[in-house]
Amino acid sequence: MLTGEKIIDEKRQGEAIIVNTPITAKRKLYLESYGCQMNFSDSEIVASILAKEGFESTRDYFSSDLILLNTCSIREKAELTVRNRLRSFNELKKKNPNLLIGVLGCMAERMKESLLEQEKLVDLVVGPDAYRDLPSLIQKVEGGQKSVNVLLSREETYADISPVRLGDNGVSAFISIMRGCDNMCSFCVVPFTRGRERSRNPLSIVAEAKDLVNKGYKEVTLLGQNVDSYRWNISKKGDIQDATIPTTNFAQLLELVAEVSPELRIRFSTSHPKDMTDDVIRSMAKHKNICNYIHLPVQSGNSDVLKRMNRGYTREWYMDRIKSIRNIIPDCAISTDIITGFCDETDFEHQETLSLMQWAEFDYAYMFFYSERPKTLAQRKYEDNVPLITKKQRLQDVIKIQQKNSLSCNQKSIGKTYEVLIEGFSKKSKEMLCGRTTKNAMVVFPKKDLQPGQYVNVLIESCTVGTLIGKVID
Ligand code: SAH
Ligand code: SF4
Ligand code: F3S
Repeated sequence: MLTGEKIIDEKRQGEAIIVNTPITAKRKLYLESYGCQMNFSDSEIVASILAKEGFESTRDYFSSDLILLNTCSIREKAELTVRNRLRSFNELKKKNPNLLIGVLGCMAERMKESLLEQEKLVDLVVGPDAYRDLPSLIQKVEGGQKSVNVLLSREETYADISPVRLGDNGVSAFISIMRGCDNMCSFCVVPFTRGRERSRNPLSIVAEAKDLVNKGYKEVTLLGQNVDSYRWNISKKGDIQDATIPTTNFAQLLELVAEVSPELRIRFSTSHPKDMTDDVIRSMAKHKNICNYIHLPVQSGNSDVLKRMNRGYTREWYMDRIKSIRNIIPDCAISTDIITGFCDETDFEHQETLSLMQWAEFDYAYMFFYSERPKTLAQRKYEDNVPLITKKQRLQDVIKIQQKNSLSCNQKSIGKTYEVLIEGFSKKSKEMLCGRTTKNAMVVFPKKDLQPGQYVNVLIESCTVGTLIGKVID
C-alpha cells in the first residue's frame, strides 16, 4: 500500500540510471525519471536513442555534460519536486556553463516554451512523442540555440526501438503496448500531456517479449493508460503480414504474450472499469502465467462523484466488475486508486468511498487528495472547493481502512504456499531474498543458495501490512 506520488516505482522516483554506451563515448549523460511506469519505460527508449549517439552515462551529475529529467505533471506536488531539482541543477550551471539541462516527459509537454522563456530553467524541452528528435535537438543546443519539440503524434509508438533496460534486476521488464489516452477523466492531465490513444503492433510486442525471454527475463508488465481499449486493426494500419491475427484486442494480446513462454509471467497496468471485459478475465484464468492481479482504479465510491469525474461508470457497475473478477478467478488480488476531496465532494459521498473500500477489501491502494490541474475539464467546469484540511482528513480515513484491508488480506495468506519469482535481496537484510506471488504480494524469505530469476515455493508464516514472510519448501 502506498500513498502520495504513484506508483510501484515509488522507490525509483528520481533515480539516476545508467546507459550502456560504446567505448568511444565522449559526452556524459545524467538521466533522472519521475512519475508512472510509462515514464520509466520511456526513459529506456531515450537511453537507447542516446546510447546510439555515443552518450556515456553517469550517476554523478557533477561530472555530466547533459542532465535530462523525465518529468510528471499528474499532481502539483510532482511538478514542484522537478522545479526544485531544476533550480539546484541550475546552480551547477553557474560553475559549468557548458552543462546542458533538458526536461522530457509530461511537464515538458504541459509547460512547453515557458520552461525556456519565462522560467529560464532549461536549454531543451522535449515532449513524450518527440524523443526520436533528441539527437538533432541536442545538436542545436550545442550550437548555442535553445530547442523545443513538443509535437504530439497520432502514430508514434517507438515500436522499432529496442529499449535499454534500466534500473534493471534482469528479471522483470516493462513493455509499452500503447500510448496516450482518449478518456477525458475530468481531473486528469494525461490526455493533454500524452495525446491521443494509439496501440502498438502486436507482432512487435510479441517480438519484444521473446527477446526478453531469450535474455533470461521472467516477467513482463504490459503498459498503457487504459489497456482494455488496446486495439490493433489490420485494415486501419495495413502493415501486418500475419493474416492469422487480423484484429487484436487486449484479451487476445494477453494470450499472444502468454504463449511466448510458460516460464514468463505476464502482468499489466492499468485496467479501466468501464472497459474491462469478462474476456480479459477469462484470458487470465486460461493461462497460469498471467498473474492473478488486477489494478482497477475506482477513484470514488459515489456515482455522482464518478459522473463529475467523467469516469463512465457507476458504483454499481464497478461492483459488478469486482464480482466478475472474483467469480472467474476466486483468488485474484485487486488494487485501486482513490482520490479524496474532488470538487463538491460531500461527506456522504466520501462515506460511500469508505463503504465501497470496506466491501471490496482491496489488497492494495494508491491514495491521493485531489490536486487541480490546469486545462482539465474539472478546472474549467468545477470549483476546487473542498478545503485542503478536509481533503487530507478524508485521505487519512481512506488510508486507515486500506491499512486494515491490506493487513487482513496478508493474514489470509498465512499457512498457504505460493510460487514466488525471486527478484533480489530484501531491503533490510542480505541474508534474505524477496520476490512476488502471482497476486503481486511481496514475500521475504531466507536466501539459502537461491538466485534472482528462480521460481520457488514459499510457505507463508507471518506478515506485516506490506510484506509476507515465509520459508522456501521443496
Ligand atoms: N490511467 C490510469 C491512471 C493514471 S494517473 C487510470 O485511468 O486509472 C494515476 C492516478 O493518479 C489516477 O488513477 C488517479 O487516482 C491519480 N490522479 C490523477 N489525476 C489526479 C489529480 N488531479 N489529483 C489527484 N490524483 C490524481
Ligand atoms: Fe487519466 Fe482517465 Fe486517461 Fe487514466 S483513463 S490516464 S485517469 S484520463
Ligand atoms: Fe505522470 Fe505523465 Fe505518467 S503525468 S503519471 S508521467 S503519464
